[in-house]
Amino acid sequence: MIRLCLLFIAATFLPAAAAQAETVSSPDGRTVVTLDTDGEGIPFYEVVRDGTPVIAKSTLGFTFTDADPMRRNFEVVAATADAIDTRWEQPWGERQWVADRHNEIALTFRQKDATAREVTVRLRVFDDGMGFRYEFPQSDAQPVRRIAEELTEFNIASDGTAWSIPAGDWNRYEYLYSRTPISALSTVHTPVTMVLANGTHLSFHEAALIDYSGMWLKRMEGTRLRALLAPSPQGAKVVREGAFTTPWRTIQIADGPAGLFESSLILNLNEPNKLGDVSWFKPHKYIGIWWEMHLDKTSWASGPKHGATTENAKKYIDFAAANGFRGVLIEGWNKGWDGTWFGNGREFSFTEAYPDFDLKAVTDYARKKGVHMIGHHETGGNIAVYEDQLEDAMALYEKLGVDAVKTGYVADAGGIITRDAEGKDLLVWHDGQENVRHHIKVVETAAKHHIAVNPHEPVKDTGLRRTYPNWVAREGARGAEYDAWGVPKNTPDHVPELIFTRLLAGPMDYTPGVFSLEGRGATAPDIPSTLARQLAYYVAIYSPIQMAADLPENLAKWPKALDFVKRVPADWSESKLIDGAVGGYAVIARQDRNSHAWYVGGVTDDKERAVKLPLAFLDKGKRYAATIWRDGATADGLGSDRHAMDVITQKVTSDSVIDLRMARAGGFAIEIKPTK
Ligand code: NOJ
Ligand code: CA
Repeated sequence: MIRLCLLFIAATFLPAAAAQAETVSSPDGRTVVTLDTDGEGIPFYEVVRDGTPVIAKSTLGFTFTDADPMRRNFEVVAATADAIDTRWEQPWGERQWVADRHNEIALTFRQKDATAREVTVRLRVFDDGMGFRYEFPQSDAQPVRRIAEELTEFNIASDGTAWSIPAGDWNRYEYLYSRTPISALSTVHTPVTMVLANGTHLSFHEAALIDYSGMWLKRMEGTRLRALLAPSPQGAKVVREGAFTTPWRTIQIADGPAGLFESSLILNLNEPNKLGDVSWFKPHKYIGIWWEMHLDKTSWASGPKHGATTENAKKYIDFAAANGFRGVLIEGWNKGWDGTWFGNGREFSFTEAYPDFDLKAVTDYARKKGVHMIGHHETGGNIAVYEDQLEDAMALYEKLGVDAVKTGYVADAGGIITRDAEGKDLLVWHDGQENVRHHIKVVETAAKHHIAVNPHEPVKDTGLRRTYPNWVAREGARGAEYDAWGVPKNTPDHVPELIFTRLLAGPMDYTPGVFSLEGRGATAPDIPSTLARQLAYYVAIYSPIQMAADLPENLAKWPKALDFVKRVPADWSESKLIDGAVGGYAVIARQDRNSHAWYVGGVTDDKERAVKLPLAFLDKGKRYAATIWRDGATADGLGSDRHAMDVITQKVTSDSVIDLRMARAGGFAIEIKPTK
């Protein structure tokens, strides 16, 4: 690691005259960020790329519920600089090695009043964007900070197109994306992705969301956005005692979609692995007693329709063993699903099974077959009830060899149930500080028991898998469940939008692989997709745990498609965007972490597209065989023939270019293996 520590202003107390703008550039010199105070002593930053403003003057600051704002009348009293050029290894991931090359400055701002309160802004600039955070020291003037609002601005220098989902609405993050001018945004979740008129691609998000509230972005006027922290019923949105740092506020900056897709900025701004050896987590594929409930063929609740019976579980385990799936997710095995559990969760037991489900017999049977049950903890949003049982629940799973758990927080936004100081119910937000803390508690408890965690209805991903590598995936967007019962179902542009928005934050448990292309009460044409597109998802949507969601009988009914799912890995040494456009289409190539094979996935929106796939990523001079699962000539993801699929094999080298046609709502998947 090359580390240049340039302490260019060492003094802690600078004479006011020495306070001046500091600039820091990306290692490639293209992005220049200035940090300064204006005439009123308000701290601000601005960003220029290749000489063109990207972020105009954007001010920084805080208001508190019980103290004067930290807004104006600041002076800079200390500054440091640093430069890092290193790389680090992921235990599993979309790439094995992550390069971290950035320049940093940290300025300490002090308020020129009797309190002399200070805050340091640490700013890191990478070739793929920038991040900054606030660092609050211990303060006698304000020993406890009760933050009413964070005033961080993102004043985008020109208009463009934005892809966003609304923040503060009841369905958390489970929305289709809207494509609007930046100047027409309302209040949105991050990541929010934008393409400016000159083609510059930007994505705004945050990294390392720990013990703080999630950041939404609210448009003020024009193209000026401002942080809006997730609300709290207790007044202050964040309460912190003593010294603390905020999450990083991040802006990914790229010339095109590949620069966003390949960016590791969010991971780089998280702390290194805290858990040590996590080789007990194996990236894998799984099936589950799941889609049948979403089709309403069986139920989570007990009774004649109960899905999680011992007998049904054994059927799934047999199918998993016969087809090489490591995991079988079993939902609805535990007591508490009868009645209204969503937004309630009071009845959930995380250790007691329904009488027709023998947990020990099922896990013993799975073990004998080389399969692992994946546990399930739906909380109905009641984190108080879950935390009461958390340790026992994880210990039970560990004892039985259940080494991954899917959690769930089905409650309206703002409907997470916790307890106040007197033990009474307190309703908080999914991305509020209390639930942010809860998620870390679950992940830490699970890690102690060597269990991987995959939350649905989660706090958004901010790259914490680097620090907690047992936090392997999450939902936090519209997944395949909407193809069962959503109104509307996921539209063809949804996945090409996810790839450049939600998925920039980290892995998603989308739960692909609905080969039947039929949801609940289907009338044809139903799910807007071709069969080949379902296969593309295994490459295009990154997750170290990938489900084959359909009923086992449907997976078996399309053996050529199942063959691809059996072959595709879930752990990669490298990932590249070969071609694409935000919300339009994406062609993604990934190299297997455990072999020299490459896999390529392509998805399109509602437009039929012809794409050329140059194989320049292959090793020069080597020979390969490419097997292609592609839309058949008559396939149309929006028409009556959605299952037509050709599987062909051809010889290729790094000089080859493969021509592909994607049908409307179609796609393709390719395996490229070295040959002798
Ligand atoms: C919503 C989740 O997204 C889904 O996967 C799960 O089956 C249900 N909640 C029940 O927990
Ligand atoms: Ca969900």
